[in-house]
Amino acid sequence: MARGAEGERRKREHYYRAAKKAGYRSRSAFKIMQMARKEGLLRGVETVLELCSAPGGWTQVLRELNGSLRIVAIDLEAMLPIEGVQFIQGSILDDGIIRRAEGLTGGSFDLVLSDCSPNVSGHWELDVARQLELAERTFEIGNRVLGPNGKTLAKVFQGQGFQEFVAEIRSMFRTVKLIKPDASRKTSAEIYLLATAPIRKRSDAKNL
Ligand SMILES: C[S@@+](CC[C@H](N)C(=O)[O-])C[C@H]1O[C@@H](n2cnc3c(N)ncnc32)[C@H](O)[C@@H]1O
Repeated sequence: MARGAEGERRKREHYYRAAKKAGYRSRSAFKIMQMARKEGLLRGVETVLELCSAPGGWTQVLRELNGSLRIVAIDLEAMLPIEGVQFIQGSILDDGIIRRAEGLTGGSFDLVLSDCSPNVSGHWELDVARQLELAERTFEIGNRVLGPNGKTLAKVFQGQGFQEFVAEIRSMFRTVKLIKPDASRKTSAEIYLLATAPIRKRSDAKNL
């Protein structure tokens, strides 16, 4: 791929066309595909909790990579059905919604994924703070619903509070890795955090 702004534009277009051709609902379908392959995300995984799933590009890829996965997906927005996926419409910040998801699998998952973005306000600092809240919530949920070798992968915007946030996640999971998939624009502030093996339950997570 060419470098610089022109290279980024071409890359975006490339993934847009590829998503359209493959019938994926989002360009970011390629992000999860790349991360899943490179990080072996689905190895040994039977149950997935996908937060902020709409319109469903990631979900489509998950189904393709492993047709027998049990997937529970949640989003504020409605999502067109995908075979084998149980979808709940609501906010991940709402405890009742998370309990409903837990109820569908007996309370335990092998993998928690989240690609959350808040409604963009246009004020960068506010958007970063809201996105961080969604990412923090994701790891709290992961810490609670995962088994001892479970994994949580979440998008985070690198802005104010990012370093402190990573330090906090490092205190909650045995290993934490930062990932920037090729399908994510180099100039975009987003990065993905992969945290494996919860090492303690946060006291506030008990009150989810
Ligand atoms: C970038 S999109 C996810 C795209 C998805 N990974 C895909 O490939 O189709 C971000 C999603 O976050 C959702 N979202 C934002 N805040 C949320 C919240 N509090 N609870 C649930 N979903 C939320 C939005 O509705 C939006 O669908």
